Amino acid sequence: MSEKTIDQLCEALLSRREKAAQGGGAKAVEKQKEKGKMTARERIASLLDEGSFVEIDEFVTHRCVNFGLEKKLYEGDGVVTGHGTIEGRLVYVYSQDFTVLGGSLGEMHAKKICKVMDMALQNGVPVVGINDSGGARIQEAVDALSGYGNIFFRNVKASGVVPQISVIAGPCAGGAVYSPALTDFTLMVDKIGIMHITGPAVIKSVTGEEVTSEQIGGAMTHNRVSGVAQLFAADEGECWAQVRKLLSYLPSNNMEEAPHKETEDDVYRTVPELRGAVPTNPNRGYDVRDVIVKVVDDGDFFEIQPYWAQNIVTGFGRVGGKVIGIIANQAKHMAGCLDIDASDKASRHIRICDAYNIPIVTFEDVPGYLPGLAQETGGIIRHGAKLLYAYSEATVPKITLVLRKAYGGSYLGMCSKDLGADVVLAWPQAEIAVMGAEGAANIIFAREIKESGDPAATRAEKIESYKEAFANPYQAASRGFVDRVILPEETRLELHRALTVSESKRELRPKRKHAIMPH
Ligand code: HXC
Repeated sequence: MSEKTIDQLCEALLSRREKAAQGGGAKAVEKQKEKGKMTARERIASLLDEGSFVEIDEFVTHRCVNFGLEKKLYEGDGVVTGHGTIEGRLVYVYSQDFTVLGGSLGEMHAKKICKVMDMALQNGVPVVGINDSGGARIQEAVDALSGYGNIFFRNVKASGVVPQISVIAGPCAGGAVYSPALTDFTLMVDKIGIMHITGPAVIKSVTGEEVTSEQIGGAMTHNRVSGVAQLFAADEGECWAQVRKLLSYLPSNNMEEAPHKETEDDVYRTVPELRGAVPTNPNRGYDVRDVIVKVVDDGDFFEIQPYWAQNIVTGFGRVGGKVIGIIANQAKHMAGCLDIDASDKASRHIRICDAYNIPIVTFEDVPGYLPGLAQETGGIIRHGAKLLYAYSEATVPKITLVLRKAYGGSYLGMCSKDLGADVVLAWPQAEIAVMGAEGAANIIFAREIKESGDPAATRAEKIESYKEAFANPYQAASRGFVDRVILPEETRLELHRALTVSESKRELRPKRKHAIMPH
């Protein structure tokens, strides 16, 4: 046999690469397109900075010989992995290729994913996983299950160390759903992303219920109803833009600060419209996002979980170029009451911010915990405890701004001074008390009201006197629970000052293996 020239060898490499890049072949790619889906490689190209992707393990193949699988060898084994940059910052990525054996996960496919997860953790950079898979590769049996186990283990090991983002852009079923569930953010693409443990057929055979995949696992189901997903994209174009934007608020790892973004937006500007942004009447609703966008740089607020537990708003923004995590009661929904889902949503966001060194700004206007049988028997006690836990546990700078109501236990639950808030600010219409004036007067003056010749007039008088005494920020300010009562129009610059003074905060806690979070 004649020796091959270097040019021939290079040609062979290039043609091998070209073949690997074809995934499952033209027919399968056509099927993928018919379903309205991009290919695995197109997705990576859309996500990353142009030309930055470096593929690794493109020639990996499975080694399964069961049920004729040995005849179905595809280079890459159904997942494209590697690294690249987003806004010039390094990320690792994997993208399941449905055109190869339905993107199903076997031993080697899982090994490829684990390798990028290990590299991301070692190098301290985020991982973006793009899911589009028929699940465990059935022919590979326990090797496939082991593959998932290895991924879950790494998801947990990397949790809070490097950001992990899951994109669901195809099926993600059975135990496979638990990898996204263990990551920091799950983004689902409408119409093509499906997540469920058991599909419609199994559900029908077990419970008799007739359901569609969309009903149990569609993008809006998990964004609005179950709370499994944090972000929704109408299509893939929007999805990649959202992932890029999300990463702009996160540091590459837990030893770094989130990237600073220069802005032309003067941090010392006053915002006159804020004066009228929150009605002084505690019974009137408004959209707290209108307050947030007036405060953050360039009015740019990136909301997380906008469709679920809408009585609390969570997200990211910047003040003076510095990233902040935002938690805000939403008076427009259920008067901003805290309930089970709101407690879960907010406590998770607080822990994400704390893990990634992002200061937390809380916009508080909360009348209390939502009353009712469903809430009590659903465990509002243990869910509400998560909020107290997460705020108390967080050692990043914590700034609380009381916009209006701050009543009772929920006053504490929204990061009062006692839960470690570094700076507490209040607007002049703030009411920091055990409860609203009407409820309070009815309880403490019950006898006077009952025995009065004119109960209605006495009640009104007592309500007024309670309001006078407590429906303001000054009683709390007189005890030092509020550091400053501020003019609403000065909120942006006051927050900037509070963030600046807390920047060098260092807080040491007793050593322990880990705390035990309420469940
Ligand atoms: C092996 C699979 C596969 C799988 C799909 N394929 N899923 N091969 N293992 N899990 C193959 C198909 O045989 C087919 O091969 C090709 O991928 C494309 O699949 P289609 O069925 O033609 O595609 P489509 O009609 O779009 O349907 C997609 C689907 C369906 C709904 C995902 O393929 C399906 O129901 N797959 C099985 C899902 C499943 O039960 N997975 C196991 C879940 S349990 P050919 O050669 O014909 O092109 C699980 C446990 C994880 O994942 C446990 C973790 C702890």
